[in-house]
Amino acid sequence: MKVDVAIGLQWGDEGKGKIVDVLTPKYDVVARFQGGPNAGHTLKFDGKKFVLHTIPSGIFRSGTVNIIGNGVVVCPITLMREVDELNAAGVATAGKILLSKKAHLIMPTHRAIDAAQEAAKGASKIGSTLKGIGPAYTDKISRCGLRVGDVLHSSFAEKYRSAKQQHCTYLRQLGFPPNVDEEEALWLQSVERMRQAFTIIDSEYEINALLKTKNVLAEGAQGSMLDVDFGSYPFVTSSNTICAGACTGLGVAPGSVGEVIGIFKAYCTRVGSGPFPTEQLNETGELLRRQGDEFGATTGRARRCGWLDLVALRYSVMISGATQLMMMKADVMDSFEAINVAVGYKINGLDTDRYPYEVDVPVEPVYKKFSGWKKSIAACRSEKDLPQELLDYVKFIEQQTGVPVKYISVGPDREATIVR
Ligand code: GDP
Ligand code: IMO
Ligand code: MG
Repeated sequence: MKVDVAIGLQWGDEGKGKIVDVLTPKYDVVARFQGGPNAGHTLKFDGKKFVLHTIPSGIFRSGTVNIIGNGVVVCPITLMREVDELNAAGVATAGKILLSKKAHLIMPTHRAIDAAQEAAKGASKIGSTLKGIGPAYTDKISRCGLRVGDVLHSSFAEKYRSAKQQHCTYLRQLGFPPNVDEEEALWLQSVERMRQAFTIIDSEYEINALLKTKNVLAEGAQGSMLDVDFGSYPFVTSSNTICAGACTGLGVAPGSVGEVIGIFKAYCTRVGSGPFPTEQLNETGELLRRQGDEFGATTGRARRCGWLDLVALRYSVMISGATQLMMMKADVMDSFEAINVAVGYKINGLDTDRYPYEVDVPVEPVYKKFSGWKKSIAACRSEKDLPQELLDYVKFIEQQTGVPVKYISVGPDREATIVR
């Protein structure tokens, strides 16, 4: 069997949680492969709403195995809080989640370093979610991180103490003397709960064994334009959010990858700093934010909003080799008279169809204008119900990317999904 990989193709918050939840009945296993509590994946069904940060979005379907892979950075406090919230809502988690020994731990001092580094950057800050993601991945790459498997060994306390000491020295050097005592007590308590509550395993063996007979869906976090290699560096997250990240983040071979499911909104949003060529700092942006309820699922921050950017989308499709697309939130543009789509850029007076290396060059999008459909599509459940203007828009996106749009999402609920 193959691993299908579901990823965001823009700057995150494309609707990955919803799509993974919709697709889960077709899969036996759902596995997160990168990111951590910076992610906020929203699912809505039966009048209920859930936001997941670390736990895979397959958790609501019975019989699904959920894996938190080695590429994820885990905050035990957030993880146990998610478990508590799910359990309180009547969603069972016991025995349904496998946790990789090789996933790295986010420590309270990682969060303190994240905050200190952002504060030190001043106006050039990344706009991080301040969940300690960058510092935890830094320690991983520097080969001094703490891993989930370490909590199973008696040397854990000493390893923790030593890592904390190094972080504290660094924080003092930065001029931000640490004060993590309160958080540390909860963190240590959560580590112990995590150790008891989760099946902590060599997930690369487990997933490859499961692959012999089971369908696996890999769930990405963030989006391709936030990828540490291919996003608008340094305004990115600290992991590989692209399809290739599923191989390193789960221990599956590239040849095991099947469908690459690229998820994108019918427009664009971005949270935090960094270039956003099609951003609309005007009434259009306000309308998208209001209609799309574009406020961060993790931080509550207002998301920046703008037109669909096909330069960025084609780039993301290319990097990950998307084989099918899922278009989300088309309903948000129901009232628009006209819809713009960036098909190219003008940079220093020259036309280009490429996303630039530089993050500080003025980029002028070249737009193609489409007529809006000006009616509600929220109740549509099949393609034949959709207005021709929307179908024209979808067709153009397919032509531009060379990839079929398989699903059109017309509302946040699980049911509000059109399969083509
Ligand atoms: P993720 O991080 O990619 O899982 O996306 P988020 O959950 O952060 O943000 C997506 C938001 O859009 C959530 O509030 C979803 O409930 C909502 N959503 C998803 N699909 C649709 C859709 O088709 N229409 C509308 N109006 N909202 C949607
Ligand atoms: P999901 O999985 C949108 C953004 C932050 C910031 C940058 C770096 O819900 O799509 P970090 O906390 O990783 O150091 O932040 O990346 N960012 C996201 N934006 N959705 C996310 O996740 C994001 N995770 C990180 O806003 O600009
Ligand atoms: Mg999100």
